[in-house]
Amino acid sequence: MEKVFSTSPHLFSPLSLRSVTLRNRVGVSPMCQYSATDGLANDWHFVHLASRAVGGAGLVIVEATAVAPEGRITPGCLGIWSDQHAEPLARIAGVIKHHGAVAGIQIAHAGRKASSDLPWKGGAHLSDAQGGWPTIAPSAIPFGGAWPKVPRAMTEADISRVQSDFVAAAKRVLAAGFNFLELHAAHGYLFSEFLSPLTNQRTDQYGGSFANRVRLLVDTTRAVRAVWPDHLPLAVRISAVDWKEGGWDSEQSVALAKLLKAEGVDLLDCSSGGVVLDAKIPVAPGYQVPFAEKIRRGAEMPTATVGFITEPKQADEIVRSGQADVVLLGRQFLVNPYWPAHAAKALGHKLPPPPQYARAW
Ligand SMILES: Cc1cc2nc3c(=O)[nH]c(=O)nc-3n(C[C@H](O)[C@H](O)[C@H](O)COP(=O)(O)O)c2cc1C
Repeated sequence: MEKVFSTSPHLFSPLSLRSVTLRNRVGVSPMCQYSATDGLANDWHFVHLASRAVGGAGLVIVEATAVAPEGRITPGCLGIWSDQHAEPLARIAGVIKHHGAVAGIQIAHAGRKASSDLPWKGGAHLSDAQGGWPTIAPSAIPFGGAWPKVPRAMTEADISRVQSDFVAAAKRVLAAGFNFLELHAAHGYLFSEFLSPLTNQRTDQYGGSFANRVRLLVDTTRAVRAVWPDHLPLAVRISAVDWKEGGWDSEQSVALAKLLKAEGVDLLDCSSGGVVLDAKIPVAPGYQVPFAEKIRRGAEMPTATVGFITEPKQADEIVRSGQADVVLLGRQFLVNPYWPAHAAKALGHKLPPPPQYARAW
């Protein structure tokens, strides 16, 4: 960790997290492809993720991958609830590493936002007749709008089952050869629903006070860290704010980051929103960067930023000015798998292309 603060990093300087070194600070943000069958990765995921490693990213994070079938957002989401699921993912981890990137994966449970249709079919909640399934959440409060399903408030047995599902998933991720693991605690999915007072109205030890609302995430992080080896980095993505009065805020994010750091989390991936429908989000270039900076300084730990970062100079400046340690890009990578190679050129760095492409570059 010392290294992060003692050098003068820029977008194309390496970053070491435990024994793993990212060749640069550009990462592929986890992005659902909604293209799996029964949670199994296929050729689409392989080509999609391999291309972005070939394109020069330092870190490629596989999309939200469900720890249990009912934790998928849609029927097309990836899963890792059986050893069979780990097989095609192992091939993906292998190709990402072969092309010089760190192979990351985000493991997730969608909570009350599970059982949704594919986005290109409208994305609304699916009824059981349409192939949907019952959902769970901290409290029986529906998301609303096109997601009217009322989730079942989780029992303590549900809570311990979810925790063991995350631990089992982490073990499979390790067996599959990934060298970076992220827990998805953002965007109004299960962990995020526990964090926010807007979605968590429990009266037991998992609701009410800050200490109670963070308990599920902190306990699960501890259990995952116990099976995820010491030499490999662990990250957590949070929604730093709900963008809604009375919701989760950036002060709580800093306090949570300190707790997660103490549990062995190496990188806080700072997103925002997604918890309630009526949030007012001031979307603009780099609008979430201040959260990564605040958490980086407040908890004194490495952070990743994401959201409307499109320009090489903009990304480079974020790292140079110490606002974040890693810049994750989502949609830019969907437009251009070679974003890092182009950015390197624009910023005056050399990113050697794969030899097969050398004559063109
Ligand atoms: C198609 C698509 C799928 C996404 N899936 C995920 C996901 O699986 N997990 C996650 O944490 N965020 C997900 N996101 C959010 C992105 O990771 C990223 O935070 C967001 O797109 C903002 O970054 P951008 O402006 O660079 O696209 C998704 C975004 C898109 C566009």
